[in-house]
Amino acid sequence: MKKISPIMILSVTIAILVIAVLGLLWFIQSQPDPIRGIPPLTDVSPNEPDSSVWGVNFPNQYSTFLMTAENNTRTAFGGSEPVQKLEVDPRLVVLFSNMAFSKDYKEDRGHMHSVTDVEETERVNETTPGTCYSCKSANNVELWKEMGAAQYASTPFSTLGKKITEPIGCVNCHDSASMRLVVTNPALEKALEAQGKDWRTFTRQEMRSLVCANCHVEYYFAGEGKLLVFPWAKGMRIENISEFYQEIDFSDWTHGESGAPMIKMQHPDYELFTADSTHYKAGVACADCHMPYTKDGAAKFSSHNMRSPLLNPEASCGTCHTSVNYVTERVSIIQNQVWDTMVITEDAIIEAAYAIKAAADVTGVDPVLLAEARQLHREAQLRWDFIAAENSMGFHNPSEALRILASATDIARQAQLKAIEATGQGLNIQVSTP
Ligand code: HEC
Ligand code: HEC
Ligand code: HEC
Ligand code: HEC
Repeated sequence: MKKISPIMILSVTIAILVIAVLGLLWFIQSQPDPIRGIPPLTDVSPNEPDSSVWGVNFPNQYSTFLMTAENNTRTAFGGSEPVQKLEVDPRLVVLFSNMAFSKDYKEDRGHMHSVTDVEETERVNETTPGTCYSCKSANNVELWKEMGAAQYASTPFSTLGKKITEPIGCVNCHDSASMRLVVTNPALEKALEAQGKDWRTFTRQEMRSLVCANCHVEYYFAGEGKLLVFPWAKGMRIENISEFYQEIDFSDWTHGESGAPMIKMQHPDYELFTADSTHYKAGVACADCHMPYTKDGAAKFSSHNMRSPLLNPEASCGTCHTSVNYVTERVSIIQNQVWDTMVITEDAIIEAAYAIKAAADVTGVDPVLLAEARQLHREAQLRWDFIAAENSMGFHNPSEALRILASATDIARQAQLKAIEATGQGLNIQVSTP
């Protein structure tokens, strides 16, 4: 019997292995791309503004998203009832004297109401720029690509309104082909770039908060073209934002009582939350509390019914906290502490505004000191408004909220003293408060 040589065995083995590997590669290659577990029922075009089209593929996300139209429950400091804030706290009428927020300032509601609510507010008029639609509609994604952000912004509100048919929708947060979370607002993209950040490198958990920053942030309209800009170039703390506005010499309006050049803050939910809050530092995201996982039979999905977590605390907090009662009670305690502190700040700012007004009427008042007093009024109020315009009554970051309010109260009292000093009449001046 002839012996089979070891070389022969080796060659045959190698040949079989090579064929096997090639075969396997061919098999893998000829498989369809594993985009989704279940093939989509319908193809959704990249800019599709109509959420019902996306809803064909994702009925659970769509049906929960629709619920944002029905929510109408009020909570102690939030919820979805469009309460007139000016009636709850009449101090706001003085604080926003000579600007639109002193006429109409309602509590926010669900995402499905975004277009109706912005079109119905008494703050909108013929001079309103199209930029006001920036955080309201699913049509924006297509419009920004077609028109560019600059032309979008400079189109008058009423003209642009003819192209706005949809409220906020899936396309504001998702890429239609992969369903990945994406940044869609060019202003957010730019603001991150200015900080040397690229959202494409963010982790999934970071994106679960960042998509909200497309809209839940402080912003301003730059220049004649009213381009939407986030004032983050120096950082996202209130001190950085204030410094930024000072440097570009920006103001939204002149205060009706004090004559100070003022800044209106707009819902800085993302900035307050990310300013080293306990939850942010622990890696918790907006979606963890506002989009808790929900079950439909065997399917687990993120509830797209974004609303107050206090209406659903078992799902929103219970995934991480063993005692839901304990933590919701903490929310109530924190919010009441922040509210009480905020009212003290408001009284201090109002007294400063009236002191400046009274000082301005005194003959021989020192114009330099008066201007300094106005500057202090501006500084105090933009700090207070950072917390007042934020949507959680301090809960997103309790210690930072109280730190900012303490500093606002201090600056307001400095403004009041400066006004008195400007009169050169010592402390004899009579200050009238409402
Ligand atoms: C740890 C849980 C938690 C996280 C994380 C969180 N929130 Fe909240 N949020 C709350 C609670 C609690 C309230 C207060 C609700 C109330 O007063 O009814 C709230 C209130 C709000 C409101 C107002 C809701 C209303 O009913 O008017 C908005 C808007 C909001 N959050 C957005 C955000 C955004 C954006 C982020 C991320 C930047 C975020 N939240 C992160 C728990 C959370
Ligand atoms: C405001 C932003 C936002 C909008 C608008 C939005 N989503 Fe989402 N969506 C999210 C976030 C955040 C997640 C969680 C993603 C993660 O955990 O990676 C998510 C997750 C999903 C997922 C993955 C599975 C799951 O449930 O976690 C699907 C599918 C989805 N959304 C579909 C939709 C559809 C359909 C719409 C429109 C009806 C929509 N989304 C609107 C933010 C949004
Ligand atoms: C495209 C802009 C946009 C994006 C993106 C967005 N929001 Fe909103 N959100 C709004 C606007 C505008 C309102 C107020 C609508 C109104 O009052 O009509 C709102 C309201 C809310 C409310 C209050 C609901 C109520 O019933 O009072 C919550 C909570 C909320 N958003 C959470 C989130 C979270 C969490 C994310 C991110 C996962 C997010 N939003 C992303 C624009 C946006
Ligand atoms: C994804 C997990 C997660 C979710 C969801 C969550 N929390 Fe927390 N929470 C934490 C972590 C982590 C801490 C840090 C302290 C700890 O380890 O217990 C914390 C701390 C707290 C604290 C103490 C805060 C402090 O500054 O000491 C309160 C109050 C609280 N959570 C309330 C809530 C409420 C209310 C909800 C629901 C609206 C909620 N949390 C949802 C993870 C979570």
